[in-house]
Amino acid sequence: MATHYPLAEDRGQATVPVTIDLRSDTVTQPSAAMRQVMAEAQVGDDVYGDDPNVNALEQQTAHLLGKQMGLFLPSGTMSNLASVLAHCQRGEEVLVGEQYHISCDEAAGVAVLGSVAIHALSTDVFGRFEVEQMTAAIKPNDYHCPMTRLLCLENTVSGCIQDQSHIDTLAECAQQHGLATHMDGARLLNAAVAQNLPPARLVQSIDTVSLCLSKGLGVPLGSVLVGPAEVIDRARRLRKMLGGGMRQAGIIAAAGCYALDNNIERLAQDHRRTKELAVALEGVDGLNFDMARVQTNMLFLQSAQMPALADYLAQCGIAITAIGQNARIVIHMQVDDEALQQVVESIRTFFANR
Ligand SMILES: Cc1ncc(COP(=O)(O)O)c(C=O)c1O
Repeated sequence: MATHYPLAEDRGQATVPVTIDLRSDTVTQPSAAMRQVMAEAQVGDDVYGDDPNVNALEQQTAHLLGKQMGLFLPSGTMSNLASVLAHCQRGEEVLVGEQYHISCDEAAGVAVLGSVAIHALSTDVFGRFEVEQMTAAIKPNDYHCPMTRLLCLENTVSGCIQDQSHIDTLAECAQQHGLATHMDGARLLNAAVAQNLPPARLVQSIDTVSLCLSKGLGVPLGSVLVGPAEVIDRARRLRKMLGGGMRQAGIIAAAGCYALDNNIERLAQDHRRTKELAVALEGVDGLNFDMARVQTNMLFLQSAQMPALADYLAQCGIAITAIGQNARIVIHMQVDDEALQQVVESIRTFFANR
């Protein structure tokens, strides 16, 4: 299947099982302790509001992010979608960075399922767009135009931390123009840990936030949308409409609570290892990357020999995401120091033998 996130069957000619999977932080497996919590979770029917672990997770996440109410959804994609549809009516418009997930990785769900137009703003290599770009994109009150209703931000963007004062300025300006604001915070906690800031501070100026549990936090699936009660109430109806109302979902929500209690601070280990990897690869002849973009748990590589590098790594049991001359490496909780060393040595060996 053609995809820009290569699937298992697309990994070249590899016959070796993958032992170090660096394609994404979504590949993490639940730990033994997390599985124990899941096995012992008390559950109820969450569509009736009866599941104690779902209720606890929603409250805990809302508290963590300084918002009124939370809603547990099966995926980050559905969380973003429910949020955009809760903010916007048919024929209205959302402004979003062109490289953000809502713009290019969610199969245009907001347009297909909500008849909401996407106006994509060009971003720099760090994922940033300027206030002037945003204000220029807000449509006048003219019946030829869609009504611009919502600004969608993302943090981190491809591993890059968005400048906090800039986020606040964008959000304040959007609000002055009557727009609501949504943050795709799939990896917001990476940004919080890396800056040593309380997560709530990062989204103080934002109305709704989607937080993924299934990335660096290591939960098998799930996201929590948080925001004002009236928006979350609408999103709850939309979740049901989209088929995301789950029954004994507490088995997963318990893992979510476990992750919020135990797995946030450890994201700093992923960031340290990503930086160590980048430092170890600096100066390797034939390999390029921008050290300024190495801010959390992602490293983007360029090489004229990229397809061959990805194939070689696959033969070493190491999976990366490679497209053309570019590749992405994501460090997560299943990559320890020993694995990291193996990755460094494999990449160096490949280029030394060219
Ligand atoms: C920035 C961002 N937002 C949203 C999502 C969607 O999450 P999910 O895969 O749970 O639908 C992803 C997934 O990788 C993501 O990277």
